[in-house]
Amino acid sequence: MNAEDPTLSHIGRSIAEIRAELGVDPVSVEAIRDPAVYELEREKIFRRAWLKVATAWEIPEIGDYKVKEMPVADTSVLIVRGKDDKIRAFHNVCTHRGNKVVPNGDFESFGRSRAGVVTCRFHGWVFGTDGPLRSVPMEEGFGKIDKSCLGLREIACDTWEGFVFINFADPPEQSLLDYLGDFAKLFGGYPYAESTTIFRYSTVLECNWKVAHQAFSEGYHVPTIHAGSLPGFRGVEHSDFKLMGPHASSTIYGAGMDTAASTAAFAGVLHGAEPHRPRPDQLPPGINPTRRTDFQFELPNLFPNLIIHLSAGCGYPGMSFFTHQFWPLDHGRTLWEGINYFRPARNAAERVAQLHVNALHRNAWLEDTATMEDTFTGIRSGAIDQMYLMDQEFLIRHAVRVHDDFLAA
Ligand code: FES
Ligand SMILES: [Fe+2]
Repeated sequence: MNAEDPTLSHIGRSIAEIRAELGVDPVSVEAIRDPAVYELEREKIFRRAWLKVATAWEIPEIGDYKVKEMPVADTSVLIVRGKDDKIRAFHNVCTHRGNKVVPNGDFESFGRSRAGVVTCRFHGWVFGTDGPLRSVPMEEGFGKIDKSCLGLREIACDTWEGFVFINFADPPEQSLLDYLGDFAKLFGGYPYAESTTIFRYSTVLECNWKVAHQAFSEGYHVPTIHAGSLPGFRGVEHSDFKLMGPHASSTIYGAGMDTAASTAAFAGVLHGAEPHRPRPDQLPPGINPTRRTDFQFELPNLFPNLIIHLSAGCGYPGMSFFTHQFWPLDHGRTLWEGINYFRPARNAAERVAQLHVNALHRNAWLEDTATMEDTFTGIRSGAIDQMYLMDQEFLIRHAVRVHDDFLAA
């Protein structure tokens, strides 16, 4: 698999091996249908696994912070770059009486504290961006108070390749690097942090989070669902299967994604510019190892709810990578976030080309998300008890197995 790191050869799988290891039987849909399973998932998956909540380049300066609402853990999280340049995560909860320290009008928001403090707007308690309670208005009125015990409640936080992860377990069962395991070895080294131009889409879908996750975990649907947005993309080869503990990946090859006339024109703008041309050479060596020219993207699933697609500017001109993430809001509601990452445009032409590529991708995602609520309704109807999964849907089969293992632990 990876000539430079022979220890990774064990993660590659042929179709026959995938079938032998994961089986070919239909898979129950009960875990999607049953609201009681969702309550177990909150406890046994989302409070135990490492969860990506930000990128380091979203909060590049000292004092920058991001607030992220996380209903799955009944909390709001403050991710902040402290004066020591370290990124930390805290419950966005004031230790006075529990108000939100930084108000947040949406699922996520951003801000900056040049003074290195955040102040609760309710009664004005002031916390350092590294956590400690700094000052309390009318402190003498409390009679007895030990400020040293009243800092913001910290959440385990670590970064990998600029992706910021948190873990609600105290302490986590594994370090982030141990949790990522072979995933970090295979996908490390790609210049993620160079692609700081971000286009973010999100919507709330009336479906269970796993329905949304599964819909983005396979390429079997591309020739049908995406016949509108990708009319030239007829052949899909889903291969190079990889299993990495709770994580898995495969590669999608197939020509034709960039054949629309408008795309070709904008691809010319981007591919003609050195910073934006396709970079198959920058893919980790274990991805598309023979450097096939019809490589479209790698489809790595990071359990439980993140997909980081490496496209290297091939399928979608100029795009370095894109991510999907699926945040349960309750059993039947999901916040989906799709983010495209580009290297910064150097001029107006490149910017317009990026906007076009981004819109093209948005159209494909509208086609994807259009299936999800119908699928969930169908599963809830009781008309089917199982789903039938073919080889190209192996990431779903694998995620179901890992999900069941987490719930049984
Ligand atoms: S709840 Fe924050 S200062 Fe009172
Ligand atoms: Fe799709």
